[in-house]
Amino acid sequence: MPIISLIAAMSENRAIGLNNALPWPSIPADWDNLKKVTQGKKMIMGRKSYDSPHRLWSEAGNYVITRQHDYAVDQGFEVVRSLEEALEKCTDQQEVFVLGGEEIFKLAIPIADRIYLTIVHQVFDADTFFPTFDESAFDITDHMEFKAGENTPYDISILTYQRKGS
Ligand SMILES: NC(=O)c1ccc[n+]([C@@H]2O[C@H](COP(=O)([O-])OP(=O)(O)OC[C@H]3O[C@@H](n4cnc5c(N)ncnc54)[C@H](OP(=O)(O)O)[C@@H]3O)[C@@H](O)[C@H]2O)c1
Repeated sequence: MPIISLIAAMSENRAIGLNNALPWPSIPADWDNLKKVTQGKKMIMGRKSYDSPHRLWSEAGNYVITRQHDYAVDQGFEVVRSLEEALEKCTDQQEVFVLGGEEIFKLAIPIADRIYLTIVHQVFDADTFFPTFDESAFDITDHMEFKAGENTPYDISILTYQRKGS
């Protein structure tokens, strides 16, 4: 099994999405970090995240989780029926990324080895949120701070949580 990593950005009120888009304008420092850590890794996403204007794509491969039959996806993406099916297709990988959204994070947090979590130090209106999780089950192994103006319009923290014992 690969290392199962989640990557997400949430605000102080755990907002991650609004109207199937991100609640905030682009945060270049966060995108740069996301591109760096996911480079060359397969990605797994929910159908709504696939449908959003901020859709992500990896050259290594991309899985879209849906219950719909005959759901058509663009080249470079593959439809799967469950998170488990996506992970079965990644057994030869060293690390795989679960990109969300909320529904898929809820499924993946219990089995996540790592969570790369950006905290945007603002409050935003939202309709989707990053689930609370048992932070005591993880060590914080990396912590970066960017102040507003340093390639980001807001103060942000980028944390890496590593599951204890994994
Ligand atoms: N800030 C961030 O880091 C971040 C990251 C990703 C996404 N987002 C935001 O999050 C929002 C989307 O999140 P969301 O929770 O609404 O949607 P989502 O998790 O992206 O996708 C939900 C869809 O996944 C499929 N699905 C869910 N559970 C399933 C299961 N057990 N088996 C099979 N298929 C399943 C269903 O697709 P069907 O309806 O097709 O069956 C469901 O409608 C957007 O606003 C997006 O911009 C934010």
